[in-house]
Order: sequence, then structure tokens, then C-alpha cells
Amino acid sequence: MSRGCFITVEGVEGVGKSTQIEALVERLRAHGHRVVLTREPGGTELGEAIRALLLSDRYPAMHPDTELLLMFAARSEHLHRRILPALEAGEWVVCDRFTDASYAYQGGGRGMPLARIEALERWTLGDFRPDATLLLDAPPEVGLARARARGPQDRFEQEAQAFFERVRAVYLQRAKAEPERFRVIDASRPLEVVRAEVEAVADALAGGCGA
Ligand SMILES: Nc1ncnc2c1ncn2[C@@H]1O[C@H](COP(=O)(O)OP(=O)(O)OP(=O)(O)O)[C@@H](O)[C@H]1O
Ligand SMILES: [Mg+2]
Repeated sequence: MSRGCFITVEGVEGVGKSTQIEALVERLRAHGHRVVLTREPGGTELGEAIRALLLSDRYPAMHPDTELLLMFAARSEHLHRRILPALEAGEWVVCDRFTDASYAYQGGGRGMPLARIEALERWTLGDFRPDATLLLDAPPEVGLARARARGPQDRFEQEAQAFFERVRAVYLQRAKAEPERFRVIDASRPLEVVRAEVEAVADALAGGCGA
């Protein structure tokens, strides 16, 4: 049995990741793949408990190092308990955010040195990286307006717009540096237009990783 593909979806708050990931998964399943849909931070029972700590506004003064370490603690659990076992069983894994989000949020947003994130990435993931990453890109005000319309804001959504400009810039830098892994999708367009592009990407990926 061949190993499944690991696909991540990234982008700033409210840009449409959770909405469009459904279309991605549905389309991959239509191609006959068994697909696990998961998210970060989270994806395991322990990881979801860490997610609750990270998103809660009970800890507004959480130190950036603590935040980064909690992100990678949840990621390590996710990788070993859920992602790798599924991939080895031939399932595809589609994940709402992954390590690119640590570079974008803790690196870009919080200004943490990238070398520190790289060290943690190497330590927790070794050479493991997503096979493909969809970056839903839009000016932060577009996503933030969507997220605000959706309901109460979490600890990250309460950040100022400049924070999200830095997050977006790091995402775009990473996409430019690794064009073979990233598919950048303009998510400022209407839902159905974005969805059609996500489905086209799913069709292109469905043949297998790197195909
Ligand atoms: N292209 C679009 N045009 C208009 N509204 C959209 C579009 N995409 C998503 N939305 C709406 O914007 C809101 C946020 O979408 P969604 O929850 O999918 O974003 P997200 O990227 O997962 O956010 P978060 O980063 O907070 O998890 C939802 O109410 C969704 O219906
Ligand atoms: Mg979401």
C-alpha cells in the first residue's frame, strides 16, 4: 500500500480555510481517496486541550516562547498519534494549519527569531514536511471582517491589523521560497470562485504526492 499524501491549508484568520477545506476533502474523496480531516493546534485529545489554552483569553500575557512551545507540543502529539499512523495506513491527511502557521504567527506576528522555529521544527518533525500546502491569501481586513461577522474573537483575532500584515507577509515569503509545495489562491474573491479553484487544485493533487 502506498503512503498517503499530507496536505495543509494556511492563511490569516477568517480567510476561509475551514470552509474551503471541506471542498478539498470532498473532492479528494470523490477521487477515491480515504481522507482524514484534522486541524492545528489540536487534532488529538491532548492537542485540543492545548488548543484551548492557546486560544483562551484567560492568558493574555502568555510569553511568546511558551506559545511557540505549546504549538510544537501539540504538533508533536498530532504527528505521532494521528498524522503518521494515517499516512502509513494509506490514508490522506488534510490539515487546517501546520508549521507554516508557526512561522507566520510566532515568527512574523510575534517577531520570534525564525532560527528558533526552525530548530523546533527539526527537533519535532525531522524531515517531515507537507506534500502540498494551499495558501488562501487575502488582505487581513478581508479575513478579519469575515471572522468578526462569524462570532466572538479568540486571543489571536484580538491582535491589531499590523500583526496580521506581518503574518500574511511571512506566508507569502514562504510560498515564494517553496513554489513546488505551495498553491497560492486569491481568497478575497466570492466563496464559489475560491471553491472552484480549490477543487481544481484537488484534481491536480489527486494523482498522488508530487504528481
Ligand atoms: N470567499 C468568501 N467570501 C465571503 N465569505 C466567506 C468566504 N470564505 C469564507 N467566508 C465566510 O467567512 C467566515 C470565516 O470563514 P472560515 O471560518 O472558513 O475562515 P477560517 O480561515 O477557517 O478562519 P479561522 O482562521 O478563524 O479558523 C465564515 O463565516 C465563512 O462563511
Ligand atoms: Mg478555521
